[in-house]
Amino acid sequence: MLTVFNHPLISHKLTIMRDKNTSTKDFRDNLDEIGSLMVYEVTRDLPLVDVEVETPMCKMTGAKLAKDVIVVPILRAGLGMTAGIMNLIPTAKVAHVGLFRDEETLEPHTYFEKYPKNIADAYVIVVDPMLATGGSSVAAIDMVKKQGAKNIKLVCLVGAQEGVDNVEKHHPDVDIYLAALDDHLSETGYIVPGLGDAGDRIFGTK
Ligand code: PRP
Ligand code: URA
Repeated sequence: MLTVFNHPLISHKLTIMRDKNTSTKDFRDNLDEIGSLMVYEVTRDLPLVDVEVETPMCKMTGAKLAKDVIVVPILRAGLGMTAGIMNLIPTAKVAHVGLFRDEETLEPHTYFEKYPKNIADAYVIVVDPMLATGGSSVAAIDMVKKQGAKNIKLVCLVGAQEGVDNVEKHHPDVDIYLAALDDHLSETGYIVPGLGDAGDRIFGTK
């Protein structure tokens, strides 16, 4: 299932990020804020369990999340969305998946992976600002599934239809969330209109 957010705050912040004149700091700050806004909706269906709590007035039955949440940023650019998500779910654990896309073939290559122990039993949120060909997201989801993960959501900022189709084909069980579905991919595999190279803009490497 694909959800494309339609929220004025997200659209406003994303437009700032798209602007080629936006500074590294403003790009990062807006990505952080959009991460928080998106995860609020993405987690809407997380199951709860009852817990007993005593307020200053009386005992009552409250609720807490039934399982751990594990955030999986796809390095590097996914790191830019992680802090905003962790602001809303401070108890979340973080798995890291390092992938880079070959500039010629557009194929993803793995260079790092590290997972918390209980990933098989947790709610897993894979994050990456860009869903272009979808190769990196498909590979990252393959990797977390190999670790036993079952409840997986993919949260990206900007996507292309090709990337959405690729993830839906390989992982039909994974819900996809986007802040925007853009028009097309360029010949060099960049999303158009997009926002350029997300990793370079987050980390100031170009
Ligand atoms: C970018 C982006 C995604 C990937 C998207 O990462 O952050 O991970 O490309 O493209 P795809 O959908 O065609 O796979 P990149 O490989 O440039 O690495 P970086 O995050 O380190 O900049
Ligand atoms: N990766 C990016 O950072 N930007 C794109 O437009 C496509 C892939």
